[in-house]
Amino acid sequence: MEILRANEPLARYLAARRAGEYLAFVPTMGALHDGHGACVAKARAVAKARVLCSIFVNPTQFGPSEDVDRYPRTLDADLAKLDAWGCDAVYVPAVHDLYPEPQHAWVTVDEVAEPLDGRFRPGHFRGVATVVAKLFHLVRADVAVFGQKDAQQALVIRAMVRQLAFPVKLKLARTVRERDGLAMSSRNAYLSPPERTTAVALWRALSAGKAALEAGEREARAVERAAADVVQDAGIDRVDYVELRRAHDLSALERAEGRAILALAAWVGSARLIDNMVFDIQGRRVESDVALFDDDE
Ligand code: PAF
Repeated sequence: MEILRANEPLARYLAARRAGEYLAFVPTMGALHDGHGACVAKARAVAKARVLCSIFVNPTQFGPSEDVDRYPRTLDADLAKLDAWGCDAVYVPAVHDLYPEPQHAWVTVDEVAEPLDGRFRPGHFRGVATVVAKLFHLVRADVAVFGQKDAQQALVIRAMVRQLAFPVKLKLARTVRERDGLAMSSRNAYLSPPERTTAVALWRALSAGKAALEAGEREARAVERAAADVVQDAGIDRVDYVELRRAHDLSALERAEGRAILALAAWVGSARLIDNMVFDIQGRRVESDVALFDDDE
């Protein structure tokens, strides 16, 4: 695996690509786990693709009250994992490679970036969209893979790609869970052992929402309540949201029908955790764990 630690080696690597060879890109902030492994596997599955990952803790997506310096950094372990997962090259820029001067040009996405995390992390999706736009310009990949666990992020990037005509196809990788259901996340590193035990309530909450839908409940607020009760009963008192929304654009939903996402964010100790489950609801039939959107072909 080639390690490209600045923009020039990245440019040289890209220039040496064989004509007609596909490039699949997996952007990350490091602190890698098997959820990232699923993204790399999805990238690998693209026919003929070379897989390039990036590791960059993007300062502009952290709010003033969020500590970018505290974000876990595990570069050596990350490089070993990417190598083992079959990644061909990794781009590890420094902050000045992506932000050579104070940033005055931003990418903002309306609507889909506004509810859920958009309400609690102002500026977050502007930082994400801006850095992903820069990475897309520098890497010029044919395909990029994002995790469904960060569902709103994936929808924001999809809106950016479609509306600003980025020449890249998007694919989603499934959420990977620990044995007890907790979604893998770099932020799980912040959890103490008792908090780790408590955190599984997020998964149980999504499962309670699913059970309510499967029992025929179609009132969105009742499904949300079924999930929120589980979080509350686990003693988690700082809950940012538990909401059922339309999966394709995160618009509000009164009755559960079609593709819907049950998304939640809650604080367990000093870790803000997010998770979601996507459903396809057609009459009495409820299919769960479906894709947020179909892969671009
Ligand atoms: O999901 C992440 O790790 C980050 O938000 C991303 C997409 C790499 C942008 O910094």
